[in-house]
Parts: sequence; structure tokens; C-alpha cells
Amino acid sequence: MPKNTVVHVCQSCGHQIPKWLGRCPECGEWNTFVEESIRHLPGRSRREGKTTKKANPAPINQIEVIDAARIPTGIGEFDRVLGGGLVGGALVLLGGDPGIGKSTLVLQCMGAISKTGKKVLYVSGEESPPQIKMRAERLDALSDNLIVCSEICIEEILRVVDCVKPRVLVLDSIQTFFTQDLPSAPGSVGQVREVAFKIFQEIKARSLPVLLIGHVTKEGSLAGPKTLEHIVDTVVYFEGERTHSYRVLRAIKNRYGSTPETGVFEMGSDGLRSVDNPSEIFLSERPENAPGSAIVCNMEGTRPLLVEVQALVSPSSNVGMPRRMVAGIEYNRMSLLIAILEKRAGLHLQSEDIFVNIAGGIKITEPGVDLGSAAAIAGSFHNKVIDPGIVLIGEIGLTGEVRSIMQLEARILEAQRLGFKTCIAPHSANKSKDLVPEGIDVHYVKSIQQTFDIIFD
Ligand code: TYD
Ligand code: MG
Repeated sequence: MPKNTVVHVCQSCGHQIPKWLGRCPECGEWNTFVEESIRHLPGRSRREGKTTKKANPAPINQIEVIDAARIPTGIGEFDRVLGGGLVGGALVLLGGDPGIGKSTLVLQCMGAISKTGKKVLYVSGEESPPQIKMRAERLDALSDNLIVCSEICIEEILRVVDCVKPRVLVLDSIQTFFTQDLPSAPGSVGQVREVAFKIFQEIKARSLPVLLIGHVTKEGSLAGPKTLEHIVDTVVYFEGERTHSYRVLRAIKNRYGSTPETGVFEMGSDGLRSVDNPSEIFLSERPENAPGSAIVCNMEGTRPLLVEVQALVSPSSNVGMPRRMVAGIEYNRMSLLIAILEKRAGLHLQSEDIFVNIAGGIKITEPGVDLGSAAAIAGSFHNKVIDPGIVLIGEIGLTGEVRSIMQLEARILEAQRLGFKTCIAPHSANKSKDLVPEGIDVHYVKSIQQTFDIIFD
């Protein structure tokens, strides 16, 4: 039996102490001590520096690739985000706010996999087996091959894994598990890290795909150390507003697929449903002929997504301190656009309250929506309607120039597919004119002023 010793290690300078302290005596940083266990592995003699297991270097051409056959999750959008399904030995971390639908998504996909005859093991540290069963009934995920277990000790879970021999393992959630190597409570930074590391080592040896669920803190990072993201192979976040039924699954890191890739789901009374044509849904409630509404094309990974940006500009009652609020795009990005609109397009926005919102409750992190956002603000300010058949694509630079963006062609194609008649695009793309599909007019613009001349003529 290997002997374990617990130490507290400063995450800032690496200083080690036997008992926890609030402040590191070495570097003076506060709250940096994390409990860690030091393993004295049998067969490894520190004095001799020898190990029983030898490292085995080999020429890359002679390395055997383990069959990376993927197990489809049975949910189209989830497969898309994972790059085609679960890979043997891959550790996938699924993060998200509590109550967003992580357990629902995972249980649904375990139901689908188990119905194909593969044995899956769902270990929950949060719910009891009867609770899981009730949920599975609602999701139509009942199957003899779906084994559920309520357990929080990771050593015991690994023993169960060896008994059950599942093809896929689910651990819900990392914050509830603990390892016997550390005396601290489940959910502490040390425990989360140690548990993740243990799972990682064990599943690689067994070539077992694992879905690991993790809650996100108020600050937006995964509760527990960020290092968790380094350990795992794939990190996907489940996002959305709890008050909306749409959810976006976003791959942040993926060793087996491309990022940033997104999947869109709708939460209903019988669980999550893949949304294959999200653009249509996001545009379905668009008001016709309303000032302050503009259609943009957001690109997440390989998927173009048409969404509506809404802006409301109204005279502020708060002299000198107008209100500025955003939902769905970055606040700083909006401030920048407002500054550019004031300076380069001559809009007097100093005493206006400005609200910008992306309809449907989704978040956009891409600059390709700049032009549309600026047009929505200008439209609301001038009380002018932008023709609902226009899509605006382009990034705006500090001098008010419209800059090129990635994958313009795919965005124009999506706009054409959804019946849009006109597209405003960056001037630099003018060279590849012949790539434009039929049935859509593309105006290539150099500046925001030129854009406004076209859309608000
Ligand atoms: P859950 O998967 O438990 O969230 P997480 O594991 O991320 O904490 O999701 C719970 C929420 O989803 C809950 O508020 C109810 C809602 N829900 C539905 O709307 N329909 C359903 O079929 C299910 C199972 C849950
Ligand atoms: Mg849950």
C-alpha cells in the first residue's frame, strides 16, 4: 500500500507547508495554499532515482494508433461539438451553471448509447438512483444497459467500474467526489484536482471515455482549479439563460475535434432537443420594420448563425451619466462601437441611454457582428428602419473602417439560404466576387459611413 502524505502547496510560488495558512510566508500572496498529496510509489526509490516502469521512446512512424473509433452520443448537436462522438480514453469535462441542464443532457445521451446495446455507467454524487430513474423515465432513457450508482468516493467508483466494465462512464459532478488520499471535504481545490487526476490516469489505462460534469462558479470559471482544464482532453460549456429555452453547448478545448464548435439545444418538458436550424429559430420572432433591429451573422466554429441585434437609444434623464447596458455581447465592445459612432459617423450619443441585446439569449464573442451592432444603434438613434432583408457582416476598426472577417462565404451562403436579399460585407472581400451565390446582392463597403449611406438612404 503506497503511503500518502498531505502537504499544502502555494499555487503562486510552490512553497510547501504542513498546515494550511491564509498567507504564504514565502511570497506573501493570500489564499494560495492548496492541499496536495505526495505519493510514495512502491518501486520508486528516491535515493537511487530508479523506477520499475521504464519510459519507452519510439520513432513516431512506429507508434501504433489505438483505434479511435468514436461512440456517437445519439444527440446530433452533442456529437457535432465533440467532433463526431466520444473517443476511447477521452476525458470530457462538461461545465455549466447549476440547473442549466447538464445532467439532463448527459442522461439523455447515456439513454441513447445504452439503447444501442453498449453498457454505460452513470455515477452520481448528487442524486439518488430513484431520482435518476424518475428523470430517465421522463427523458425516455430507460434501458437495462444503463447502470446507475450513487457514490462519492473515487476509489470505490473505480472498483465499481472494474466490476461493471462499462463502455462509457459518467461522473456527476466532480465537486461532489473525494479521494481517500486527502482528508479535506469534497469540492475543495485539492480534492477536485486530485480526483480529476486519478480518473485521468485510470481511464487512459482502460481506454474508457468519461464525461465529467463540473459546476461553474459565479465568476464564470469552473469551480475548482483552472488546472482541471489542462488535465482533460475536451472542455465543453453549456450556456444559456435559464429563463430562455435555448441552450448553447460550446467546445472550448478539444483534442479530438475543432474549436470553437457549438451546438444549439432547446429545453422542453421531455428534455433537450437538438436544434438543427438555429438561425431560423433565432430569427422567428424578429419584428418587421422596427428601428434598432439588425441581422448579423455570427460564426462559431464551422457554423454560421444568423441572429438579431436589438438596440434601444433614448435620451437619458441622468445628465452626464447615461446608462449603457448589454446582453449577449461584450460591454467593452459596445463602448468601443459607441465611441467610433460618435467620432466617425458624427452621432451625438453622449446624453443617450443605450441598450444592446442579442435576441434569444445567446452570447456572441466574435467581432464579425460589429457592423450590425453599430447599425442597430444608429438605426434606433435616427429612428430609421433597416430593410429586414439585409444582413450586415464585418468588423469595425478604430478609424471607422470595415475590416475583413473569417469565413465570409459560409456566412453569405447561410444568409442566402434563409432568403435574405442583400448582404453588406467588408470591401477586402471584393476580390472573391465570383464565390457569391445567386439570389443575393452583396455590397462591399469600406467604412461605417458608407454602410449607413446604403442602409439608411
Ligand atoms: P439539470 O440537468 O438538473 O441541471 P444541472 O445538472 O446542469 O444542474 O436541469 C435541471 C433543469 O432543467 C430544471 O430546472 C428543470 C429543467 N428540465 C426541463 O425543463 N425539462 C426536462 O425534461 C428536464 C429533465 C429538466
Ligand atoms: Mg446536475
